[in-house]
Amino acid sequence: MSATNADAAPLAPPLPAKAVNDNRAHMNPLPPSVFTLPQTAQLEALYTIIRSKETSRGDFLFYSDRIIRLLVEEGLNHLPVVARTIETPTGATYNGVGFQGKICGVSILRAGEAMEAGLREVCRSVRIGKILIQRDEDTALPKLFYSKFPQDIASRYVLLLDPMLATGGSAMKAVEVIMEHGVPEERIIFINLIAAPEGLKAFCTRFPSLKVITGWIDEGLNEKAYIIPGLGDFGERSFETV
Ligand code: URA
Repeated sequence: MSATNADAAPLAPPLPAKAVNDNRAHMNPLPPSVFTLPQTAQLEALYTIIRSKETSRGDFLFYSDRIIRLLVEEGLNHLPVVARTIETPTGATYNGVGFQGKICGVSILRAGEAMEAGLREVCRSVRIGKILIQRDEDTALPKLFYSKFPQDIASRYVLLLDPMLATGGSAMKAVEVIMEHGVPEERIIFINLIAAPEGLKAFCTRFPSLKVITGWIDEGLNEKAYIIPGLGDFGERSFETV
């Protein structure tokens, strides 16, 4: 006998389309250079999946990639455009716009590398540089270990990729290095999945004209500098290595 609706467990009442948790509670007012994704229930559902410790690696990659694509699209909204007139197949003229300038990505290793696929899905054949920053054991300060950038990076807009902004130390060092290669602060856009208010504040104070696109601002940091509630170590969950 098949189950009827009368047999089915009652559905929980649906929640509104707005997210249940409002990340502005953790940083209000937001610095003017910070842009968050619209805090919808759908976005929160994606974050709920990737935050869960029960989520498999495959699902973690799939759902974090969905958020990364939204973040990259939002980042592209901040690039300048110029007037562009085209003709449509109907013979009509359309006065539209086109992107001005070239872009490249720079991923902060190793977690940022997991964002490269999402960037490539949105920007086909985009050039991507890499930067490795680690804590100097003598000074406890972030230290540059490796960088490789497109040779014409100085003439490009840079999408800087790092999923987790904790204290902000690596991201600030990365921006410093990119600027030393001739890219002005205003031409760098930082793309980030989860930010801690402490790191975000330090980053925006240091680079006030660099735009930050983040999906969610969490409560803060624990004593090991992990973001709370966070999602754990993004690199470990992406690459399944310790
Ligand atoms: N990097 C991570 O991967 N997770 C954190 O919570 C903080 C930094």
